[in-house]
Amino acid sequence: MPEGYYSQFSLIRIETMLHIVNCPKTPTISEYLARNAKLLLFCVLALSTQVGKAAETDVDRWYSTDQVEKGSELFRQHCLICHGDQAQSIVANWREPLNDGSFPAPPLNGSAHAWHHSLESLMLIIDIGGTYSGGKMPAFESLLNEADKEQLIAWFQNFWSDDIYQQWQDAK
Ligand code: HEC
Repeated sequence: MPEGYYSQFSLIRIETMLHIVNCPKTPTISEYLARNAKLLLFCVLALSTQVGKAAETDVDRWYSTDQVEKGSELFRQHCLICHGDQAQSIVANWREPLNDGSFPAPPLNGSAHAWHHSLESLMLIIDIGGTYSGGKMPAFESLLNEADKEQLIAWFQNFWSDDIYQQWQDAK
């Protein structure tokens, strides 16, 4: 919404208000403004704080930027080859089975299913992989410690929109 919209809107509102309340003869807009400068200023300020609030959609995340940065390197080393450099998967349709009947690595960027898993489940999936049930994902239990896994999850969760992140958080 352009800023002009709000100031125009508030002017019209105030004009109408004043007209009803205290106008025996119709003053010009500049007379309104002169008389009611304080009220006008107040309304514009109140509106602009509201506009500021509406635009601010950040949801508090459990991880730090440091974890995200460290996760980026770990992901490149261990996961990128299957899950893609932006955790977007490397195939166009990750729902379609490969020739051998197994499934390709899904995106982890919030566009697929990963956000249905709690933090604990995500840690577990990384530990045990998918080969135990005929899948292709290797187990990382012996390669990655708890901090590594948290950094990896932080990195791919950082692609999730606030909306997806919030749903994930609320599902806990
Ligand atoms: C050899 C390919 C491969 C590598 C390497 C790999 N994955 Fe996977 N990943 C998969 C596949 C395939 C699946 C789907 C389950 C299956 O079939 O094993 C999967 C599933 C997942 C899931 C569950 C997603 C969901 O939607 O439920 C997570 C989380 C995950 N991988 C994280 C990682 C992380 C983190 C790494 C790196 C440490 C990694 N994967 C490395 C292939 C891989």
